[in-house]
Amino acid sequence: MQEAVELDTGRFQLNRLSSAQHRDSLAEDVRHGLMSEPRVLLPKYFYDERGSKLFDQICQTEEYYLTRTESILLKKHADEIIAITRPTAIVEYGSGTSEKTELLIQAAHQQYAGLHYLPLDVCEEILVEAGDRLIERYPELSIDAWHGDFLDGMDHFKNGHKRSLYVFLGSSLGNFSENEAIGFLRGVRNTIKDSDWFLLGVDMVKDHAILNAAYNDNRGHTAAFNLNVLNVLNQALDGNFNKGKFKHQAFFDTEHSRIEMRLLSCCQQTVTLHDIDLKIEFEEGEHIVTEYSRKYTADSIRQLLSKAGFKPQNIYTGNNNEFMLILSSCSEADER
Ligand code: SAH
Ligand code: AVI
Repeated sequence: MQEAVELDTGRFQLNRLSSAQHRDSLAEDVRHGLMSEPRVLLPKYFYDERGSKLFDQICQTEEYYLTRTESILLKKHADEIIAITRPTAIVEYGSGTSEKTELLIQAAHQQYAGLHYLPLDVCEEILVEAGDRLIERYPELSIDAWHGDFLDGMDHFKNGHKRSLYVFLGSSLGNFSENEAIGFLRGVRNTIKDSDWFLLGVDMVKDHAILNAAYNDNRGHTAAFNLNVLNVLNQALDGNFNKGKFKHQAFFDTEHSRIEMRLLSCCQQTVTLHDIDLKIEFEEGEHIVTEYSRKYTADSIRQLLSKAGFKPQNIYTGNNNEFMLILSSCSEADER
C-alpha cells in the first residue's frame, strides 16, 4: 500500500493512502455490489464533501437523536474516561467533524499537557476542516490525520505513543454486518497494545417509531444524503443515474435488529456507468440497499466485544437507554 504525507503544517499532518487504489476499489465494489442480489452499495461511498455536509445536517435534526444523546453522555463522562485511560494519543476511526471527540480532547487538555490526535476518515475535506479547528483551539495538540479506509489503514495505527485511547463513535459499528463487525473489532484488538483502551459508541434498540423517524427526517436531509451516493457514482465512474428517478426508503427490520436504508427505482430504467462499461436494468420498485444500521442491547454489544478479545469495563447510558458508550480494556490486569 502506498502512502504519502500530503500536508505538514507543523502541528497538523495529513497522510494519504494512494487515490488510484481508492478509485480501483470503488470501481470493483460498485460493479460487484450492483450485480449482487439484492443490489448493494458500501456506505463509505456516501462521504464525499457534500455527503459529509449532509450527514452533519442529519445530526442536527430533531429526529436523529443519536448525535445529541452521545454528546450528552460524553459531556457527562469525558473527565472520568480521561482520568481512567490517561491517553497520550487518541486514535479515531471515522472521525468526521470530530465534534464529539473534542469533548475528550478538551477533558485531556484540562488534566495534562501533550496530547496527540490521530483521526482516520475517507473524507479528506472533513479531516482538514476538523484539523484546522482543533489546532486553533488547542495550542498544545498535534494531529496526525489519515485519509483512507479504516479497514485498509489499521496497521498504520500501530503508533509509537505510550498510552492510546482508540475511539469509534456515532454507532458506525452498526453499519457493518455481524461478521464485518467482529472482523473490524478483532482488527482493532490486534492493532492495539494491552495497555491501551477502546471507547465504542453504539445506538440501542428502542421504540420502532423513534428509530424509523431518525432515518426519515421531515426536512429530507436523510433522503438527500442517501440519494447523494448516486452523484458520487456518476462523478467517479462517468455514470448517468438520475436522482429524480430514485426514492429514499428506510425502515427498522426487527429480525436483524437494524435499520435498512434503500434507494427504490421509481420506474423501469437503464443506468450506465461508462468508465466500467456497466449497464444496469432496474424494474419499477426494484431497490439498492445503501446502508444497514444495527441497533444493540447491552448484552449483544458486550458479547461482541468479548468475542473480539476486549474486556468491557464501564458502560455509560443515559436515563432513557437511548445510546451506549462502552469503555473496554484489553487485558485482565486492567479490569477494575
Ligand atoms: N464519528 C463521527 C462521524 C460518523 S459518520 C460521528 O460520530 O459523528 C461516519 C464517518 O466515517 C464519516 O466521516 C465517514 O467519512 C467515515 N467513514 C465511513 N466509512 C469509512 C471507512 N470505511 N473508512 C474510513 N472512514 C469511513
Ligand atoms: C454513520 N452512521 C452510523 C449513520 C447511521 O446512523 O447509521 C449514518 C446515517 N445514515 C442515515 N442517517 C445517518
